[in-house]
Amino acid sequence: MRRNEALPMARESAGPSATEAADPGDTALSPRRHRVLLVDDDPDILAGLCHALETGGFVVTCASSLGSAIERLRRDTFHLVITDLYLGDEDLGHAIADVARERRPSPPVIVMTGRPTFDGAQEALRNHVADIVVKPLSPETLLATCRRVIHETELARRNAELESANRVLTSVLPRTIEMKDPTTSGHAARVVGYAETLANKCGVGEADRASLRLAALLHDIGKIGIPDRILTKPGALTADEMEVVKGHPQLGYEVLAPLRDHEDVRTWVYQHHERWDGRGYPQGLAGEDVALPGRILILAEVYDALAEQRSYKPAWPVEKIVALFRDQAGRQFDPELARLVADGLERQGSRFFAEAPDRLF
Ligand SMILES: [Fe+2]
Repeated sequence: MRRNEALPMARESAGPSATEAADPGDTALSPRRHRVLLVDDDPDILAGLCHALETGGFVVTCASSLGSAIERLRRDTFHLVITDLYLGDEDLGHAIADVARERRPSPPVIVMTGRPTFDGAQEALRNHVADIVVKPLSPETLLATCRRVIHETELARRNAELESANRVLTSVLPRTIEMKDPTTSGHAARVVGYAETLANKCGVGEADRASLRLAALLHDIGKIGIPDRILTKPGALTADEMEVVKGHPQLGYEVLAPLRDHEDVRTWVYQHHERWDGRGYPQGLAGEDVALPGRILILAEVYDALAEQRSYKPAWPVEKIVALFRDQAGRQFDPELARLVADGLERQGSRFFAEAPDRLF
């Protein structure tokens, strides 16, 4: 094959190929057919790699110069860029990696080089390229590398989306509750730590601990539905107003209905004002009717209310809290849990809870 015969494969930016034309639109990423920008200044290599990629099911756009590659990259959307490291003596791969990083979504870049050097590899790492491969490349290696890099990129992207959604749950929602009821600033995050400490000491399994952290974080979310004039009323509430406030576990249970896979989280939120002796609300459950993680949440929540200063009371000293837990063992609280906490506080003071790991999820 003469060198120029490869050129029709090397399409530069002259227009879409047959495979490109079959793809619906330049800007939307197709979920089935991955679009690849392939850059190399050697027409034969470009043609060979292009053929291998198209045979492997990719939609390929070819470019043989830095300028045309950058132009295509800025104009179209790609799942992956594969570029030679050098164009003549010029550094091509890194310049393209810079442009790729600015794009949203940002396609991963695989750099190919026929002259692997330590400096080149270091530079590539600095530019956050997804992989460096050495030419000549077999079609199998090329396809396997492309599929792996695309898969890893999609996983990382999905992970980032989940983390962002998780931040809404673990940060935005508790802040919303605290904005509604500023007297409880930081309360939910502290209760998470206290509950986690107790769950560890009681041997609660990891799956239940994760649900308990979420329940602790969101236990007062139902307060969003309580009118401000009642929630932030200075002074004592009337009996009717108290009944409205007592509705917040039920409201929390309803707000959390979309957490379909976390029925236990909803349940423990619903039960966080129950008592061991059955005199709590909303259901008047008694003893082990409330599961251990739920009983831990009840105690952790009260501990924070006592240990922190509130508008209506100063922070209680440890001795006073210990006395209350001893007095309320078997009444308000699970007797074993209450004794565990009272003993721990007596022994270590507030350091008993200071071991709480600083993590939510
Ligand atoms: Fe509450």
